[in-house]
Amino acid sequence: MRNLIILIYFFSFVFGYGQKSKLSAEHYQKVRKAFRQKMPDNSLAVLFSAPIRNRANDVNYIYHQDPNFFYLSGWHQPHSVLMIYKNPQTDDGGLYYEKIYVPERDVYMEMWNGKRYDLEQVKQLGFDRVAERGDFKSEIQSLDRFDKVLMFEFKNDIRAQKTYVFKDNVRYKVDDPNDLFDLKAAFREAINFPNDFNRLAYSAYQKIMEADEQTLDSVMEVVKSIVERDSLLIDDEIIKDFLKEPAQGFYKEAKRKTVSALRKSNFDIETLALIMANLREIKAKNEVDLLKKAVAISVVGQIEVMKAMHPEMGEREIQGIHEFVYRKYGAADEGYPSIVGAGENGCILHYIENDKEEIHNQLVLMDLGAEFYGYTADVTRTIPANGVFSPEQKALYQIVYDSQEAAINAALVGNSFRTIYKLSYDVVAEGLQQLGIISEPSEAKKYYPHGLSHHIGLDVHDPGNYGELEADMVITVEPGIYIPENSPCDPKWWNIGIRIEDDVLITKDGPVNLSAGAPRDFEGIEAMMQQESALKDFILPDIKTLIH
Ligand code: GLY
Ligand code: MN
Ligand code: MN
Repeated sequence: MRNLIILIYFFSFVFGYGQKSKLSAEHYQKVRKAFRQKMPDNSLAVLFSAPIRNRANDVNYIYHQDPNFFYLSGWHQPHSVLMIYKNPQTDDGGLYYEKIYVPERDVYMEMWNGKRYDLEQVKQLGFDRVAERGDFKSEIQSLDRFDKVLMFEFKNDIRAQKTYVFKDNVRYKVDDPNDLFDLKAAFREAINFPNDFNRLAYSAYQKIMEADEQTLDSVMEVVKSIVERDSLLIDDEIIKDFLKEPAQGFYKEAKRKTVSALRKSNFDIETLALIMANLREIKAKNEVDLLKKAVAISVVGQIEVMKAMHPEMGEREIQGIHEFVYRKYGAADEGYPSIVGAGENGCILHYIENDKEEIHNQLVLMDLGAEFYGYTADVTRTIPANGVFSPEQKALYQIVYDSQEAAINAALVGNSFRTIYKLSYDVVAEGLQQLGIISEPSEAKKYYPHGLSHHIGLDVHDPGNYGELEADMVITVEPGIYIPENSPCDPKWWNIGIRIEDDVLITKDGPVNLSAGAPRDFEGIEAMMQQESALKDFILPDIKTLIH
């Protein structure tokens, strides 16, 4: 009985909403128009909202909308579907190019989880058509009229959800018939998505379709490399045929079979990602404004920690100061789990335990970013807990700094991601060689094992083509050196991990470092660490005195 009561009274975290958008209906209409222009002829794109993810028992993780879905819709609620049509559709209301399906009003559920919207209110957000999610299943029966249905591959992390219905004033807990699980199941059926779908075989088939006398050799190479990733594919009839002696023209037969196999279904799981990368890598002015705000908030976090840091502080407290500053400025979340690693922990690239209490005079690597209305910063500073870099720390720090300078200065329209990476790598390799830590440039990869740059936006690792830099991209520039214990060099270098990461707006007039407000050079950091902290009078009681 007691359990039952607990279940009834604490049924409070099952639904949930993400953050609302700050951008206008007109912004999203423009984005969807640009999206449509890139769609293939007679295609339909179907995007689903993010699933609600369970944390434990009846508590879910805070809801975060899927960034592609949010980018095109600005819609923050779960169990929703967005359809965008290349060609106009018609109904009683005339022509339309898009339709969004959203959760229906439900007074009881809204009491627990907050307000849902009337369809009329959703329409104000700029959509051509708005419908309740329950209509989705019946309206997707005839998708074979499209040449292509653009979609992302299904993931397996969606659970069925419960809801309540009332009969004669009695409340019953039932399976929600139109949760994301059901909406996706109906869609799978409508597009004949095979139960045994194999992503790699699909990629191989797409490639085989490109084969002709000229491209045959290169296509063969790609298909062979795909087969190497899943040896079972060698038994796939089409792939087996294709890889037979090419001189005998077997590939034409394989192509014919591929066409007929693919014709049975019209879904396409590659084009949507390409379109999204093309759109999202270039930021609109209002997106840049939100990114600037996210970065500025993260910069204040770094500065406040520089001022407040002392050798008795633990990693968790440092993390807390950053995140407190984010909330103070209205950022609802971090864009990714905060990384605060002292000493050896700084050598773990995505260290998120943040539970070391004894830091003393170690270097502390702090990689954190505020997420402001969906847009996330990604800023790293590495500072000495005692306020002064040791000679070894300083020597390595200067190399990372010079490497970053070289890359930022070269972050010009027309230069490639590859070019700026190479510049930064060469500085690190030369510096490590001069210190006697490595003996030839290729060994630097061991201590600088990651890439230099990625786009930021609604994702911390935003999609893009990663070719040449263009105006209105916002990218990170983040070289690092990490020398874990037992590395083959003088032990005085061990357990030093350094990354300096800034967020850079690419413009036709050159790079603009949006996070330059947080000191980057060691003199600037040491000077900032001398300044008085805003938290100096924030003294809490010793917790031991409160535990009896
Ligand atoms: N914070 C993750 C990264 O720097 O890419
Ligand atoms: Mn980072
Ligand atoms: Mn980064």
